[in-house]
Amino acid sequence: MDYAEKIKVLKDEKNAVILVHNYQRGEVQEIADYLGDSLELSRKANSTDAEIIVFCGVKFMAETAKILSPEKKVIMPREEAGCPMANMITPDDVLNLRKKHPNAKVVSYVNTNADVKAVTDVCCTSANAVKVVENIESDEIIFIPDRNLGSYVKRFVDKKIILWDGFCYVHEQIQKDEVLQAKNRLPEALLLVHPECRPEVIDIADKVLSTSGMIKFAKESLAKSFLIGTEEGIIYRLKKENPNKEFYSAGTPKICSNMKLTRLEDVYIALKEEKYEITLPNDIISASRKALKEMLRYV
Ligand code: 13P
Ligand code: SF4
Repeated sequence: MDYAEKIKVLKDEKNAVILVHNYQRGEVQEIADYLGDSLELSRKANSTDAEIIVFCGVKFMAETAKILSPEKKVIMPREEAGCPMANMITPDDVLNLRKKHPNAKVVSYVNTNADVKAVTDVCCTSANAVKVVENIESDEIIFIPDRNLGSYVKRFVDKKIILWDGFCYVHEQIQKDEVLQAKNRLPEALLLVHPECRPEVIDIADKVLSTSGMIKFAKESLAKSFLIGTEEGIIYRLKKENPNKEFYSAGTPKICSNMKLTRLEDVYIALKEEKYEITLPNDIISASRKALKEMLRYV
């Protein structure tokens, strides 16, 4: 039996579900029960009946699954797979911001550690950030930690938005010049970019979308070719689900090394040995859960 078959047997035996982010390696995407963006995977984690959740992504995603389903065993195959952006802000930083802006509500991008979520009012993902900020009852918002997603939201909302200086090192590498060159080479292609991109890249995009937003848009669009401004792992899914369309990186392929750590062998070992288990203190779970449950009210 190969790893994919062994994983299937173990998964059924143990009543486990495998959640996989759109940036994961192709072979890991293939064994997913659910493949999606941060918001879709949070929803699945919130509603699954499985006893074990195997999360193939990065740590903040697995933590989110644990917070939403604390009675379940949540494991991630590579415990060192973190998101550098999530480490760019601490709970103390948030408390200091709150002191400086006592009337503001805090919206935290889901790409944060659990102890940071615990001191915020509501979370958001790239798919619902604008809606969350628009609807939260305050005209003053502290938006953490991604300055690019925060500036993107600012374009649509007439509120005072206080930004934090965090960023995703992968999306920061996508430079306007190379994107323009790619557009010149393929003038018919539509440019889809993630809102973690720099503002000058967002300015020249045809659509700004979460990872699953790109999947849905590409499927429904009449266009035949697309330039993709995000982590290159998503191109595997785009090509697989749209064999008659063409997808190219908008510039050189950009890779999130943490997302690429997980291999099939790791998933097999994780399921067999039920490791690495996500554990969080109860007070952090209950405080961060409020912010995440509040987020799940928004599409
Ligand atoms: P999505 O929620 O759009 O999948 O984005 C997650 C992420 O980490 C982007 O870098
Ligand atoms: Fe974090 Fe960027 Fe990797 Fe997404 S692509 S997990 S934001 S480092």
